[in-house]
Amino acid sequence: MKIGIIGASGKLGRLVLDHLMNLAAAEDIIAITRTPETLAAHAERGVDVRHGDYEDEESLIAAFQGVERLLLVPSKAVPAERREQQDNAVRAARHAGVKHLLTFTVSGTSPGNPFAINPALVYAEMSLFQSGIAWTIMRNGPYADEVVDWLPSIIELGTVPYPTGNGKAGYVSRDDIARTAATILVGENHTGKIYDLVGPELLSTEDLCKTVAEVTGEAVVYVPAEAGDYVEICLEEGVSEELATILATMYISIAEKRMEVRLGAIERITGTPPRSMRELMTERVAAK
Ligand SMILES: NC(=O)c1ccc[n+]([C@@H]2O[C@H](COP(=O)([O-])OP(=O)(O)OC[C@H]3O[C@@H](n4cnc5c(N)ncnc54)[C@H](OP(=O)(O)O)[C@@H]3O)[C@@H](O)[C@H]2O)c1
Repeated sequence: MKIGIIGASGKLGRLVLDHLMNLAAAEDIIAITRTPETLAAHAERGVDVRHGDYEDEESLIAAFQGVERLLLVPSKAVPAERREQQDNAVRAARHAGVKHLLTFTVSGTSPGNPFAINPALVYAEMSLFQSGIAWTIMRNGPYADEVVDWLPSIIELGTVPYPTGNGKAGYVSRDDIARTAATILVGENHTGKIYDLVGPELLSTEDLCKTVAEVTGEAVVYVPAEAGDYVEICLEEGVSEELATILATMYISIAEKRMEVRLGAIERITGTPPRSMRELMTERVAAK
């Protein structure tokens, strides 16, 4: 069975690709990207690396030839562009005869969620439901990696200024998402399922601050920021206004408790629980 991944060169896609190479023959894996040169090492190991661009339906039809199961890792385009990219991918998948489509959205995807990307995510899920092709949706929790990457700033600020109030979310590492997606891609009985791929526990921002303080020994306490102030802090950190707004609205979605989803899917699917925020932070601190 040939398994395709588009978005295979990105941070998440590359991890899925690497886990998949432990579960399937390289010759059965088709990695699709606009930049095939970035996956030259995978091509050398036998992966069929193809060019494909979400903006170019013809390129997708060519890239999807012979693919039975196809994982669409969404690009980070703005929502309006994402809808067009999704339409191109689903039409091309139908044209190429793909049998099963899988994609990632985000915890709490549903109409009315204030997260700025949510309309595109709802659209992506709907487009799979209506595709006429078997589908599986994986709704990812917020990436724990991004909190861990931000540790030096958290320590400097003495707080995690997310405007989440006492809402909680299932922060999860990209690696745990990727190994679960790879398991699903080679497995059976995942058709028509929506999985919440989240960490082992739901954490409030106060919990995050306590974990940082315990792991690093630094004084870090939660002082809730207003959404507007959080955007200002991001801008001072060099984050673009667009990304700052996306992040702020994601935290408002957490504040509205839209990310307090059911735990346990990663362990049920793979047999191994996802790593906790404490483990991920401890690893990072130890690596320094
Ligand atoms: N849950 C969360 O907290 C969270 C946080 C961050 C991101 N995300 C989502 O996770 C997904 C992947 O994120 P990431 O961190 O892995 O991003 P990334 O490293 O920037 O990867 C994005 C991938 O999209 C591909 N891509 C971009 N435009 C494309 C196009 N027109 N056609 C085909 N491929 C295209 C890129 O490949 P080439 O350039 O090689 O074509 C790249 O492989 C995104 O949907 C993002 O919104 C979620």
